[in-house]
Amino acid sequence: MDTAVNTIDVSPDPLPFFRKQTIFLTGGTGCLGGCILYKLAMKLDTAKIYVLVRGSRERGISQLKDIMPNQTDDILATKKVQFVVGDITKKNFGIDPAVLTEMARTVTIVIHSAASISLTSPQQECVRNNCLPVLELATIASSFRKLSKFVFVSTAYVNHHLPDGVVEEKIYPAGDAEKLLSQIIQMGTVSKGLAGYSHPVPYTLVKNLTEQLLVSRNPSLLVLIARPTIIAPAISQPYPYYTRHGSCPGSNYVQRYMEAPDSGIFHVSSLHPKGTNIFDEVPVDIAANVILLHIMDGTTGVIHVGAGSYVRRTLAQLHQDIIDHFPRRSNSRCPEFRYLSDKRVAQGRYAEFLKIFGRDWNFSSAASQKFSALEGPLSIALGNHDAGKFMGERTRRLGDEVVRRRSSGVSAKL
Ligand SMILES: NC(=O)c1ccc[n+]([C@@H]2O[C@H](COP(=O)([O-])OP(=O)(O)OC[C@H]3O[C@@H](n4cnc5c(N)ncnc54)[C@H](OP(=O)(O)O)[C@@H]3O)[C@@H](O)[C@H]2O)c1
Repeated sequence: MDTAVNTIDVSPDPLPFFRKQTIFLTGGTGCLGGCILYKLAMKLDTAKIYVLVRGSRERGISQLKDIMPNQTDDILATKKVQFVVGDITKKNFGIDPAVLTEMARTVTIVIHSAASISLTSPQQECVRNNCLPVLELATIASSFRKLSKFVFVSTAYVNHHLPDGVVEEKIYPAGDAEKLLSQIIQMGTVSKGLAGYSHPVPYTLVKNLTEQLLVSRNPSLLVLIARPTIIAPAISQPYPYYTRHGSCPGSNYVQRYMEAPDSGIFHVSSLHPKGTNIFDEVPVDIAANVILLHIMDGTTGVIHVGAGSYVRRTLAQLHQDIIDHFPRRSNSRCPEFRYLSDKRVAQGRYAEFLKIFGRDWNFSSAASQKFSALEGPLSIALGNHDAGKFMGERTRRLGDEVVRRRSSGVSAKL
């Protein structure tokens, strides 16, 4: 499945498009989904947004207030949002049948951003949270009479079998996805993913499986698979450094490293003895804009949503930020980072856990290049934004947080 070449010109003004859309958004209380919800309600004048929330409407609003304390009331005041109580692990997402009937009549776009982003969940649990719900939603959406787009938020790290270098915006051929799914459901765990390659964590294996199954089982659905790389805090919307606690893996790493440094040894390829491989982070508001731009532009297929639409920074730059803002106790040494191609020397525990540190994938963002100079509410142009300063300030804030936690005797969960 390659990204379709668009025939539609990029519209400079997204409002006429979004004013006509009724959107069903899952994960709207999450880091990415919350930012998408903010954009849809506050910046794009979307006709209506059904937002799936767990538990109750009140819990949904409280989740939103946690991440957007000063914006939630404004979002609600637009009267564009209808909360839909449900759970993605249930049949029909547990949605009230009357609401589903109404949605079947009105929804034009589905954006599925809900997931469990835990990297430690076992495979079966990951399938329950991150694969079966996508397939269930495709079935639900098949009754949506006006549906023009089904967006599945996947991850850029689905292709662990690929060597370092360019990763294209496409589904790479793999093995029998149906067989693998039933093996995981029956046996609980499999040692290798599709095409017989191993994944460092179940999360990436299951997202890969889901992409394949979504497309193979739903040939007539107009699917956009958005693959973010590592989501970072927002540049400016809903507000600078917006995030949901724990949902920005780069920030989690920085904070945990500052709290409990390890040996600082990273296995890298011999091409990057100084850690010059890419550590691909994208601010969440850029990510939201890229996804919304492709929805507006009618893209189908796979898109990368990463530093290719922002600024490609290296692992060494991330580490320099840690060195610059490391909250030192008296007598403690500044952390040191070493990049070794000799894999006989054990790497540190963070590198060992999140095996992407040493990779140097260059996620193509060719499909988004045409948006780079666009102005307006979905602009991804950076103007005078300085990525180095922005990420450095992110790290300084995390360092301050570490100091605060230390003085109150709390430490981050590893
Ligand atoms: N964060 C990243 O760096 C990153 C990178 C690549 C791809 N992605 C993908 O991007 C998407 C959004 O990630 P995120 O960072 O926004 O995640 P997040 O902040 O953890 O948010 C997850 C969202 O999913 C909802 N959710 C989880 N389980 C649910 C269930 N059983 N029923 C209903 N809702 C449920 C959560 O609702 P509650 O508020 O009720 O918990 C929350 O709204 C995910 O598909 C993720 O895999 C993320």
